[in-house]
Amino acid sequence: MLVLGLQGSPRKGGNTDTFLAAFLEKAGQAGAVIKTVQVASAGIAPCKGCGYCEKHGTCVITDDTMAMEVYGLMRMADVIVAASPVFFYGISAQLKGLIDRSQTLWARKYVYKLKDPLASTRKGILFSVGASKGRQLFDGINLTTKYFFDAIDAKFSHSMTYRGIESKGAIRKDENFAADIDNAVETIISPLLARRRVLFVSEKGACRAPMAAALAQRQYGDYIQTDYASLSPESELAAPMITKMEQCRLDLTYRTPQQLEKVLMGTTPDLTVVIGEGIDKKAFPGKKRIRWPLAGVFTPDVEMMDQLHQKTKKFVDSLMQHLD
Ligand SMILES: Cc1cc2nc3c(=O)[nH]c(=O)nc-3n(C[C@H](O)[C@H](O)[C@H](O)COP(=O)(O)O)c2cc1C
Repeated sequence: MLVLGLQGSPRKGGNTDTFLAAFLEKAGQAGAVIKTVQVASAGIAPCKGCGYCEKHGTCVITDDTMAMEVYGLMRMADVIVAASPVFFYGISAQLKGLIDRSQTLWARKYVYKLKDPLASTRKGILFSVGASKGRQLFDGINLTTKYFFDAIDAKFSHSMTYRGIESKGAIRKDENFAADIDNAVETIISPLLARRRVLFVSEKGACRAPMAAALAQRQYGDYIQTDYASLSPESELAAPMITKMEQCRLDLTYRTPQQLEKVLMGTTPDLTVVIGEGIDKKAFPGKKRIRWPLAGVFTPDVEMMDQLHQKTKKFVDSLMQHLD
């Protein structure tokens, strides 16, 4: 389960950076996979406002970190922490740049009517600090964050904001700092981690496993977290599978095949579903391992994808019987 931090301050080692690092460390200790995007140095181009995403469903900018990494991370993340200092009563320009580029995900949701498989369970957390103590200090940031989280299919679940924090490291002296982090990890992260963990593996991790993981996640997201992986993944998900999923209103566009070790980070799934006959069940960890002898799709045309979807749906319908 991935917790993604978007560090929006340009001041490295500043209050936002310090807080986010402490929060992610706790989340990691609780069992989450953690990742930080240092937004100021990530090289994210600002939105052009060209409307391309509304016409085509993807961003016209394809060669920056947002296109090549951050959209994918935001899709894989179960929890997203937006962290920003108050700059002129708003989000830092750096994080706002990333937020504006999320217009693509807004378009996929509201123009193309697609849902992320994690849409019903993904949580969004806001962290912010400001130097002054004004009553409305976080109003602008709260409003922007609310619409950002909505666009990226995250439920705005928790807000941690601190007034009167100015010099580098001042957040550490705040009396609530450590307890607030403990509380947020316990109330937001731990319940998500407590879900049973189901891993789908297939030979290339590009078609059968991600389809099964997406359908299972949508159907049982409150009870299970799903991953898909391969020992030797392809570079991209199979395009006809993504198209089939879009017909089912599920959005897999920014996802990629996953390497086993990266997904698991040393943890063991409750159930591992090994898809197909071609791979050795013992090569994968899992408190329980089952084989689902579903043949690979070598001619991924519309008819084959329909059949694959039908079979996968049937298997997913019966999935919970394997988890006792
Ligand atoms: C460009 C700029 C604008 C700022 N605007 C505000 C503001 O409107 N209100 C406020 O209380 N603090 C403001 N601050 C102060 C920062 O929010 C504060 O120092 C914060 O702790 C910095 O966090 P950081 O260390 O994570 O960068 C501003 C600071 C900068 C550099």
